[in-house]
Amino acid sequence: MSINIIGAGLAGLSAALTLAGQGVACRLISYAPSERAQSVMAEGGINAALDTAGEHDTVEEHYADTIRGGVYLADENAVWGLCSHAPEIVNRLDRLGVPFSHNDKGIVQRYFGGQKKKRTAYVKASTGKMLVTALIDEVRKYEVQGLVTRYPRHRFVRLITDHGVCSGVQLADRFTGEATVSGGAVIMACGGMAGLFDGMTTGSTHNTSDAAAMLFAQGVELANLEFVQYHPTTIGISGKRLLISEAARGEGGRLFVRRNGEPWYFMEEKYPELKNLMPRDVVSAEMVGVTSRDDCEDQVYLDMTGIEKTIWKTRLSDLRDQCIHYIALDPVREPIPVSPGIHYFMGGIRVDEHHRTNIRNLYAAGECACQYHGANRLGGNSLLGAIYGGRVAAETAMRDPSDQDSEIKAMPLSESDGSEVSPALAAKLSALLYRSLPILRREGEMQQAEQELRAMLTPALNEAEKRRLYLALAMVQSALNRRESRGAHKRTDYPERDDERFRQQSVVSFRDGRITLALREIPERRSI
Ligand code: FUM
Repeated sequence: MSINIIGAGLAGLSAALTLAGQGVACRLISYAPSERAQSVMAEGGINAALDTAGEHDTVEEHYADTIRGGVYLADENAVWGLCSHAPEIVNRLDRLGVPFSHNDKGIVQRYFGGQKKKRTAYVKASTGKMLVTALIDEVRKYEVQGLVTRYPRHRFVRLITDHGVCSGVQLADRFTGEATVSGGAVIMACGGMAGLFDGMTTGSTHNTSDAAAMLFAQGVELANLEFVQYHPTTIGISGKRLLISEAARGEGGRLFVRRNGEPWYFMEEKYPELKNLMPRDVVSAEMVGVTSRDDCEDQVYLDMTGIEKTIWKTRLSDLRDQCIHYIALDPVREPIPVSPGIHYFMGGIRVDEHHRTNIRNLYAAGECACQYHGANRLGGNSLLGAIYGGRVAAETAMRDPSDQDSEIKAMPLSESDGSEVSPALAAKLSALLYRSLPILRREGEMQQAEQELRAMLTPALNEAEKRRLYLALAMVQSALNRRESRGAHKRTDYPERDDERFRQQSVVSFRDGRITLALREIPERRSI
């Protein structure tokens, strides 16, 4: 038996370690080497209720903050699994040599958005990079034993399925073009859909969304696509958004706007408890609100000038370097201009608590999966979700019965499998989605986008382009269908949350050339 893992970031590495640790062979297949996965770009930290700050933090509070932050849309059983395993995961990473900040009480933790306790373990503002480095090293031990075989620089082409059962995956070597089928169960760990908003996100340009679009076209159900997270503090640089980590606010950074010429610390006035560290959906919406007022300027600033020298040196030096390097501003000396930018997709491949999809022998974990974050993800829960999710998906894949041939065989690409989305179409689509799915959404703009997307779907397009358009259409339709405001989905025409009708997952599927949209119940919570 050998299991295929698509994606070699944290979720993929974690799945590989889990499988190999049990003596199960796997193929770790990725578009780029692990060192270039988007996980490397995660900055601020990883959450776990370690209670090293003496605030009496508990797993129950981590769970409650995650459920509340996700505005009651996450699978509660899955979130309990996530939060209750977090301390063991972070302690294990610590033992593996991740250079978390330490003091005499153990791992130092910082405040992060939407959480009332210091719960985020960190390595300055380079946490993702350090976690990936540690796991690459662990995986190497199994590579030398032949339990993990890497296929870097391989493109995911398609699943091999028959009557709702997955029996492998087709791949293409990006350098030689050689195409193969790798048999066996498949764990997708291919990251988010940044390519739908090409050049407008903090994400990796490698995450084109083509894998999600192909899976959707092949009948894999997706869920909650309308929930696109805008991180409050980003800065536009050439071709992408630069992330200014929430760690800046966790360590004392303050947001202000000039009102009648004077700095107004609007978050502190309106939210005296969590202040600048309200969940991201709330902060981003407030930023839109203040910058559209007549008495305010249209630019919000992040003021880090009050942060102590030692904190800069020990916890934020890389964030400072980044600002100096990319925007030529020194945040120690002056406030920096920030605005919300697309950062994360709460929606994705619909999985159950065990990370099974609607296709037998197909699993998903990490940002590509819709699972733990409901309508809005808390900062610091994505690294945790990737590691824990990768592990659960692997455990489930090992447990599920499978008698599949796991050979690797040559299989030439069909003409449509080789097609690519043209840069012109990608740019046009991104602009359209960005315009129609902003922080505060308007029905007319979404309807207009839906019409334009339909009009763009012409026979002249290649198959990859059609697939991407259908994925975009499914996202816009999910947003139109959710007639309420919840988490990252806020509408001017339905400004309230409607639990009675919409405390449900939006599930989209593609059959016979048509998108079907349904609302599905969130699983009942078991007693814990
Ligand atoms: O702001 C940040 O450092 C982002 C962290 C996250 O999205 O988890």
